[in-house]
Amino acid sequence: MTLKIALLGFGTVASGVPIILEQNSEKISQLVQKPITISKILVRDASEKKRLKEQGYDYHFVTDIDEILSDDDISVVVELMGRIEPAKTFITKALESKKHVVSANKDLIALHGKELLDVARQNNVSFYYEAAVAGGIPILRTLATSLVADKITKLLGVLNGTSNFMLTKMVEEGWTYDKALQTAQELGYAESDPTNDVEGIDAAYKLVILSQFAFGMTIDYKDVTHQGITTITPEDVNFAQNHGYVIKLVGSIEETKSGLAVEVSPSLLPEKHPLARVNDVMNAVYLNSIGIGESMYYGPGAGQKPTATSVVADLMTLSNEVASNDQAKLFNNFNRPSKIADLEDNQSAYYFSIALSNGSKAELTEFLKNEGITPKAFVLEKSSSGKNLAMIKTNVITKNQLEQIEQKLQTSTAFQLRNAFRIIGD
Ligand code: HSE
Repeated sequence: MTLKIALLGFGTVASGVPIILEQNSEKISQLVQKPITISKILVRDASEKKRLKEQGYDYHFVTDIDEILSDDDISVVVELMGRIEPAKTFITKALESKKHVVSANKDLIALHGKELLDVARQNNVSFYYEAAVAGGIPILRTLATSLVADKITKLLGVLNGTSNFMLTKMVEEGWTYDKALQTAQELGYAESDPTNDVEGIDAAYKLVILSQFAFGMTIDYKDVTHQGITTITPEDVNFAQNHGYVIKLVGSIEETKSGLAVEVSPSLLPEKHPLARVNDVMNAVYLNSIGIGESMYYGPGAGQKPTATSVVADLMTLSNEVASNDQAKLFNNFNRPSKIADLEDNQSAYYFSIALSNGSKAELTEFLKNEGITPKAFVLEKSSSGKNLAMIKTNVITKNQLEQIEQKLQTSTAFQLRNAFRIIGD
């Protein structure tokens, strides 16, 4: 008997599933009790079906989800369509039809995971999504199993392959933003709408999921402050390099005494920090924990085969659970009341880039002093637009202080805050 599965969607990742099943078939067949076979594939419409057939794909393509839901031979539905709808409806119906579900849809799991997991539990089926976070890095199962005995205090992640690829090419090879984005899209790293990649939204979704596995807290996406890579300038990159830092888009979760401080933002990492060397499409999750201390999990965060490999790992787990008639399992059992940190407990040093329109350096220094900032580094230079630009490394301040400074500078005619990036490790 085989484990019959249906794929919903046949894009970059989904078309990688048969490739992995085929290329790694010898190992997979040794490790699963039921061989995995693709029974049906849901595609958008007749024209997509025709196009795929013409490309030589010899699968049973269907355009109506009911053909999958009503097929009792199919025990697993693999959702790889992305976005919220119709994926949410299809997953809900699949779970209600007592089918296990595998998905790589971080948007959906971050926004509606709790609800979907409840439906899975009520129907006694499993819902796995290893591929939803950091593509090819098996981080969720690692947190849920291998790290089960450890208490994690801080998580830092380079969690978006597209933006990391773009930043690396822009910094190291002088590519323009547009060239970097277009190449990332051509390589199949970016989401269909890359806004989520470059604005930090995709990384924020991944943090929501990681928070549940690493800290047992199901946080609300709205509690994740996020900022993307679109405002980073060559001046910011130069300042960082001249002061021993690398700018990366970093997602962080830190447990403070009042709760979790969670955010995604461009951040200055010391050159020697392990995350500073995570380049191109690579992702990494760096942990501080009581038992292990420091550890890092590194690998490709996007791309066809890496992500499909994580999907197939979920399928193999299911194959063995189904063959053994196991009770459906929760992907992760860690569960605590969710608490978000007070702004006072959320502390960091920052890099500020401030344009001086009418104000002088002395006036800016006085303003900063009144806000409790003693600059650790202060560089004044002409920006590309000919304005005086102050670039400052601050002492450690609270989020409260930062918000006050941002508010005051918003209404100032003398100074404009261009960027405020966290400095990690100071
Ligand atoms: N667009 C995502 C990224 C794909 O670039 O990381 C994997 O989630």
